[in-house]
Amino acid sequence: MYQIIDGKKISQEIKDELKDKVTALKAEGKSICLAVIQVGSDPASSVYVGNKKKACAYIGIESLAYELPEETTQEELLDLVRKLNEDDKINGILVQLPLPKQIDEKKVIQAIAPEKDVDGFNEKNVGALCVGSKGYVSCTPLGIIQLLKRSGVEISGKHCVVIGRSNIVGKPMSLLLLRENGTVTICHSRTQNIKEITKQADILIVAVGKPKFIDESYVKEGAAVIDVGIHRNENNKLCGDVDFEKVAPHTSAITPVPGGVGPMTIAMLMYNCVSSVE
Ligand code: GUN
Repeated sequence: MYQIIDGKKISQEIKDELKDKVTALKAEGKSICLAVIQVGSDPASSVYVGNKKKACAYIGIESLAYELPEETTQEELLDLVRKLNEDDKINGILVQLPLPKQIDEKKVIQAIAPEKDVDGFNEKNVGALCVGSKGYVSCTPLGIIQLLKRSGVEISGKHCVVIGRSNIVGKPMSLLLLRENGTVTICHSRTQNIKEITKQADILIVAVGKPKFIDESYVKEGAAVIDVGIHRNENNKLCGDVDFEKVAPHTSAITPVPGGVGPMTIAMLMYNCVSSVE
């Protein structure tokens, strides 16, 4: 029998732990304030930003919303980021991605002061993760480590295969698994004989961005499988990169979609916000 890793429950536990920490910090006279910037009105981004604001309110973090029009220029956005960098009241700055095409995402991410970059996207924080120094870590991979640890999945010494090499998930995920003493292989769109590699995984992390891409033929019997994908299928139902029904019976543990990795991203954003003050 396999374990369904309950991201909703684990993220709630983390948020409750953080809520207690924030209460204690407030008793010491410390407060936390997150600035959330959204440019344009992409519906998915609006949902994510709304959920981030809700999580802040639950935990006791103040959130300031900056909703800028779609036609905002790069300079206007950079000016706002610089202003927030210098504002002592603001502990964290989050610029919701993707940004409209006239804006260079990389330049904006680099403009966020590393000590306020609670998304962990700034090169200084990515570099810190790479060399094992203190810094903010990208929230989704950080959440996946928590899912594994809190579900009793051992990482140390295990073969961890990550499919995907994005800056937000694949690369930081691989570095975090390495930090936990996993043996890490990264697969991507140019990888040859991908099944031969994924079939060796004790822990398989899937971030390919294709609905139900992974079936049982990719998975070793008894592996733990983490699904980072989220898609809507032809019946408007949510599904992941993994074909859950086919794969689950062959695993020891697996995350569902929805209710697996998704809720963890926001919980870990809250974790990063709290650690900005601690
Ligand atoms: N867009 C999709 N995921 C993320 C995220 O984790 N942070 C930000 N800022 N934008 C996103």
